[in-house]
Amino acid sequence: MGLVIASQLEPSLNDGIARHPSRPAIIDVPEHAPWEVADSADILLVRPSPAWRGSHERSRPNIWPGRLRWVYSASAGIDFYPQWLLDAPLVTCGRGVASDEIADYVIAAIYARAKNLDAVTVHRAADWQFSPLGRVSGTTVGIVGLGAIGSAVAKRALALGAQVVAARRGRTPAAISGVQLLDDVAAVVAVADHIVVTVPATAQTRGLFDAALLGQAKPGAHIINVARGSVIDQEALVDALDNGPLDFATLDVTEPEPLPDGHILYTHPRVRLTPHVSSNYQVVRHRLLEKISNDLTRFARGEAPSDIVDPVRGY
Ligand SMILES: NC(=O)c1ccc[n+]([C@@H]2O[C@H](COP(=O)([O-])OP(=O)(O)OC[C@H]3O[C@@H](n4cnc5c(N)ncnc54)[C@H](OP(=O)(O)O)[C@@H]3O)[C@@H](O)[C@H]2O)c1
Repeated sequence: MGLVIASQLEPSLNDGIARHPSRPAIIDVPEHAPWEVADSADILLVRPSPAWRGSHERSRPNIWPGRLRWVYSASAGIDFYPQWLLDAPLVTCGRGVASDEIADYVIAAIYARAKNLDAVTVHRAADWQFSPLGRVSGTTVGIVGLGAIGSAVAKRALALGAQVVAARRGRTPAAISGVQLLDDVAAVVAVADHIVVTVPATAQTRGLFDAALLGQAKPGAHIINVARGSVIDQEALVDALDNGPLDFATLDVTEPEPLPDGHILYTHPRVRLTPHVSSNYQVVRHRLLEKISNDLTRFARGEAPSDIVDPVRGY
């Protein structure tokens, strides 16, 4: 009997998965309780649906992990799922699917800050005067989390003539020539003109950017968060903008999402807030299909699929 895949993905992706040479059968997942399908499928393809996001306090269902051999998270981050999801025999994630898009967003944020062409655009002769523009070349881009997204940012920043410093959890040297790996996150924050936050949401990274760390930023620094809102203490961020060294924040993620109406981050003059759009998912979801197809091929051959989640590290 062929593989049975329970999928929370959209029909167009499911159609593509069904065409895989292993000819898997695709079955639906109950929207309100996706874990209930555990006894009916070999593989569960999950997305961060409301049922999962609301299940953190829920104890592990008796049925879990049932017949499942593999849980495949479409998202790179697995923080939207309860801890017991990781009790499945194999959990992999969508790392890399949107890294290039997110890195492009980061570069757009850096250029918007440095060059701000809207601010120097003239509409009458009287405005025709010299205004200095900021620079990208020669500045220091500091990357906190040198994984798929951080590496994609690093390659771009180096190509633009910036210096790139980075910190990661482990001590593995940076695979990208030109990236200087520093001892810790504080060392990166202290020297960066643009601090790029690309760490996963884990117990270790919750509130990592607190008042003490933000207070060590270089005066005039710009912080860009494309990871998760929980990584930055938002009150401390506002204080670091108003009374501390930070000059500007570009945030694609917050906690919660969306922020309640009236929240200061919507209107702060030196905050650019976007609604978790940097992944450009609708445009790059074909990459998710390619990744799943490649992983199914490996799985069918008895090989390990890509991007296995380590339950101890939490990413
Ligand atoms: N905005 C969006 O739409 C969007 C889309 C995709 C992902 N994300 C978020 O971005 C995160 C990163 O994605 P990714 O694909 O780049 O992940 P990744 O490839 O797993 O990279 C994560 C990096 O963070 C480092 N790290 C982990 N814990 C750390 C710590 N305590 N201190 C310093 N560095 C630490 C890791 O270090 P090692 O290299 O030593 O392991 C790794 O370099 C995801 O987990 C997700 O939350 C957001």
